[in-house]
Amino acid sequence: MDANAENTIRVLIVDDIAETRENIRKLLQFESDVVVVGAARTGIEAIDVARETEPDVVIMDINMPDMDGIEATEAMLRDVPFAQIVMLSVNNDSDYVRRAMRAGARDFLAKPPSGDELISTIRSLSILAHEQKSKLTTPLPQVASQGPAGRGYTGSLRPQGKIIAVYSAKGGVGCTMLATNLAVGLDTDDTPSVLVDASLQFGDVAVALNLQPKNSFSDLATRADELESEYVEGVLLRHDSGLRVLAAPPRPEMADEVSANQVRKVLQFLRQHFAYVIVDTSSTMDDITLAVLDVADNLVALATPEIPSIKDTRLLFDLLGVLEFPKERIFFVLNRTDRRSGITAEAVSEHLKFVVDGEIPLEERAVSASINRGAPLLINDRSNPVAKAIINILGVLKERLVAEAEGTDEEDEAERSRLFSR
Ligand SMILES: Nc1ncnc2c1ncn2[C@@H]1O[C@H](COP(=O)(O)OP(=O)(O)OP(=O)(O)O)[C@@H](O)[C@H]1O
Ligand SMILES: [Mg+2]
Repeated sequence: MDANAENTIRVLIVDDIAETRENIRKLLQFESDVVVVGAARTGIEAIDVARETEPDVVIMDINMPDMDGIEATEAMLRDVPFAQIVMLSVNNDSDYVRRAMRAGARDFLAKPPSGDELISTIRSLSILAHEQKSKLTTPLPQVASQGPAGRGYTGSLRPQGKIIAVYSAKGGVGCTMLATNLAVGLDTDDTPSVLVDASLQFGDVAVALNLQPKNSFSDLATRADELESEYVEGVLLRHDSGLRVLAAPPRPEMADEVSANQVRKVLQFLRQHFAYVIVDTSSTMDDITLAVLDVADNLVALATPEIPSIKDTRLLFDLLGVLEFPKERIFFVLNRTDRRSGITAEAVSEHLKFVVDGEIPLEERAVSASINRGAPLLINDRSNPVAKAIINILGVLKERLVAEAEGTDEEDEAERSRLFSR
């Protein structure tokens, strides 16, 4: 195997114990795309070897003579900024993990790692290394060296994901029903997604998915300043479909302890790890909901074809205008449409001067059975008219998200922090 070939994954092993270095080398020897380009016994030696060999991935022990793995990580990244560092330690004390992540480490594995986890970690990090390397070698524009300070512990393992808020100015119009189904539909191997219940007081996403909320938003909020992947992974619930879920706190009074800033930080963290972060919200326009809108890239706004809902939607659109939420990032859905109601989507569009992007028919029995059973229609009854309507909506929404993503590079990043920089 050519160690310099473009797709080769160059690995450096750093450990003071010869046997550990050898064991890791053995675990990697049959991987045709992986080449161990060097090994080092101490932190200082590791920095020198990294400079010479320019590894994509470094497997780094924490406790070593002369300089520990955390200091070595920080120093190494100044010379080889694209290197992705995986810490190996018997000690997974959260203080260690936090320090390592702050120094710029990308992942943490318990010692001794299994072959599978080691290889899959190396493979996923190598993609990032290759991307960063190609950016660094592109002569224009000038790329700032990504020293440790620039590689916060929330360092992205994937390109920045999209935060999609599902909101209605009026309660009870179907946000949870739509958010759960959209999340199930958006979550694929290529676009892993997480559904967040930001209706903190009386959120019912977990119920709608028949999940036992062992952990909740509160567990991340209290640690919002020091989130790290392994911990977050443990807090998220997993739906049978594979979708990850962040449940609302189990008791309404616990919602009071969650601040708007914490909500912002949690969502920003999740977007580093998921392609789509779908957020179900409460219709109360409080500081929590404002925080969600502040960081959201897209908004799925929901209404029903009834006068009170339409009136409140007009107020919502006015408010979004004041907040300078880009109009083209709003996806407007009319739920519970019924030929007999007398108010058509066209009439709503006309009245609000806003295009209705999707319609979901009224289907009392099927929807309420699906919510009560905790079984989203998109999984359990795809031939149902509501499921069909949502599948249509998903198609249009996905197309829009992809088109936006393709255009995003040219957009000014400053637009992200457009809303209330409080
Ligand atoms: N298309 C539909 N047809 C019939 N019933 C529907 C439809 N969509 C939602 N519902 C019903 O409306 C009720 C409210 O739905 P849901 O809980 O999703 O709304 P919500 O906006 O999240 O409410 P909340 O403000 O309480 O969070 C549920 O009982 C659900 O069964
Ligand atoms: Mg709800």
